[in-house]
Amino acid sequence: MSQRHLSILLGLAASVLLVSAHADDLDAATRAAARKVAIGTCENCHGPEGHSILPKYPVLAGQHANYLAAQMHAFKAQTRGDPDALGYMWGMAATLDDDLITGLADYYSRQKPEAGKLVGGPALAHGKDLYLNGDPANGIPACATCHGPGAEGSDAFPRLAGQHSQYLIKQLKSFQSNLRNVAVMHGVAQGMKSEEMEAVALYLQSLGPKA
Ligand code: HEC
Ligand code: HEC
Repeated sequence: MSQRHLSILLGLAASVLLVSAHADDLDAATRAAARKVAIGTCENCHGPEGHSILPKYPVLAGQHANYLAAQMHAFKAQTRGDPDALGYMWGMAATLDDDLITGLADYYSRQKPEAGKLVGGPALAHGKDLYLNGDPANGIPACATCHGPGAEGSDAFPRLAGQHSQYLIKQLKSFQSNLRNVAVMHGVAQGMKSEEMEAVALYLQSLGPKA
């Protein structure tokens, strides 16, 4: 990928997550309401405190609040269009008002992230190389440029460390096909082969909070 192409992607990325969750403004009642919904509803799929067990359901623990809130708004606006998003999250998000979304994003961002399962054998080294260096000859940028050297993410980019590989692979395919329509990640995923998605996802799953 050329420098120019990368700077276009970075520009697109900066415009994606400008919605701020304003967690400092949260009052005690909003926090309590969010906790109640998290334990009573979200936990059924996303696990206790967002530590999901089944790979279909993404881990939410330790994810950044801005990103979580942006995704809940995208499900609610029905703009995140993968069939699982539609089937599981559109209806769920329809019932959440702005305060509850901010409260839930704050709740999950405060939970401690953990490493996922270590599997993958030789694919892990390939995944690590792709993550840190990309494959410039085939137009794949280094993921670390945006998601951080340990995939810890930031206010502007989601955490990927410790996420289920099955979920990560599915998202990369959805970005590639534009079912999940995000220009910056479409640009990243468009040249990726299935084996590359799998290798990078297995590497990411194995990472702990401070990799
Ligand atoms: C019936 C199961 C189910 C329940 C209950 C559920 N979710 Fe989800 N959630 C999913 C699935 C499946 C996905 C992944 C969708 C996809 O693959 O695009 C998801 C994705 C998400 C994401 C996107 C995560 C990311 O990394 O992009 C967020 C945020 C989220 N859910 C929040 C919530 C919250 C908050 C609640 C409770 C109000 C909740 N979910 C309840 C099944 C569920
Ligand atoms: C130019 C910046 C940039 C680069 C480089 C980049 N990403 Fe992303 N990535 C993003 C942004 C921004 C999002 C959030 C998209 C959204 O708002 O839905 C994202 C989201 C994702 C998600 C979805 C996470 C979730 O919880 O659903 C995955 C998976 C992902 N990126 C993997 C990768 C991989 C693997 C690479 C390297 C091959 C990579 N990214 C390179 C900016 C980038």
